[in-house]
Amino acid sequence: MSREELVSMTRNLVSHGAADTMEYADEVVRIPASSYTDPDTFELEKRNIFRRLPLMVAPSCELPEPGDYKAMDICGVPLLLARQRDGSIGAFLNMCTHRGNPVVSGTGNATRFTCGYHGWTFKSDGSLLGVASPKDFGPVDKATLCLKRFPAYESAGLIWATLDPDSQLDIADYLCGYDDLLSAFGFDGWTLFSQRTLPGPNWKTAYDGYLDFYHLPILHKDTFGADFYNRANFFAWGPHQRLSTPSKFAIKVQGDDDQQMDLEAMNDADLPQDVLVQGVWTIFPHISIASFYGGGQRGAMISQLFPGDTVGESTTTQYYVMENQPETDEQVASAREQFDFLEVVVRDEDYATGKRQHEALQSGMLDHVLFGKNERGGQQFHQWVEKLTHASDAQLQDIFAGEQREAAE
Ligand code: FES
Ligand SMILES: [Fe+2]
Repeated sequence: MSREELVSMTRNLVSHGAADTMEYADEVVRIPASSYTDPDTFELEKRNIFRRLPLMVAPSCELPEPGDYKAMDICGVPLLLARQRDGSIGAFLNMCTHRGNPVVSGTGNATRFTCGYHGWTFKSDGSLLGVASPKDFGPVDKATLCLKRFPAYESAGLIWATLDPDSQLDIADYLCGYDDLLSAFGFDGWTLFSQRTLPGPNWKTAYDGYLDFYHLPILHKDTFGADFYNRANFFAWGPHQRLSTPSKFAIKVQGDDDQQMDLEAMNDADLPQDVLVQGVWTIFPHISIASFYGGGQRGAMISQLFPGDTVGESTTTQYYVMENQPETDEQVASAREQFDFLEVVVRDEDYATGKRQHEALQSGMLDHVLFGKNERGGQQFHQWVEKLTHASDAQLQDIFAGEQREAAE
């Protein structure tokens, strides 16, 4: 089912490539410059987007074993992810029910969490195991003092959580079937090679860059090269978008020997899986996934963006996941080189530009910014941010139920 859809997207890209065309949005769109710089808008986005919608919080391979945990802070909400004994994922508010201290920090493997303040202990399923000095403390109903649980969902080798314990929005509904396609990467069985966190500009300024091939041969001329394609066709599932270059060719990487494949001449059945997932896959509102080769095998960079403390700041965690852990020193060095290259591209080119752009926009001297007909990804992203920021909780459910209906038709 998902292969059929992937093949049909590839055929779309091949026919546009052969005709030297691309798909355009209907018009050039104007976005108020203040939507990047206004602190009130920023606070509203943190509350109504990041603290209300499902977020992709970790690749599954970051927490492969029962007991593996990771503590995060997302827009001021302390989140604890813990792999359960049955292999499922638990997402909890990382706040001790005694007086609110986070029960654990960082990452590790544990069967229980003991709060560092007064020593209350919780099991990895969030239940309160023990109150320190219980006789002195006095009677409490332990069953009502579990760690608060967030909705969580794992699919396609990725983990989502919604930072609203009362959320009625089903995470699978929110994904509009997109996770079925993401499963084509095969992340389920992959491993985490490395990760790092980078500071960046306003989260939307930063995210725009992931939805945009227009800038590639210009901003990245010294890294990707000045002859890189600047066109993309966009495919959407609700707010989630894939962008990929219209081309009838693909490069087959075989060791040092790259070969060009003529996709137009190939049968559907012969299209390799890595060709079918080419391009950039974004998961609204904050994830971008792109495939790379390094260490002689398939890898992918999963970039996870969160708003920072102020409107002009964000942080991005780059997870470099690989089909297999590289084994020889040479493979490790080559994977490391690929990962480091992507740090340079994002930090020194995309985010350095984003920061300058943000500072300039903060002057207030420009009323609007523009997204061309060739920048449909950015157009749609901003429309979705606007729509979801201002939707009520009930409307959110209707919006995604409507997307499901449309997809089924
Ligand atoms: S705040 Fe955790 S034991 Fe007191
Ligand atoms: Fe870029």
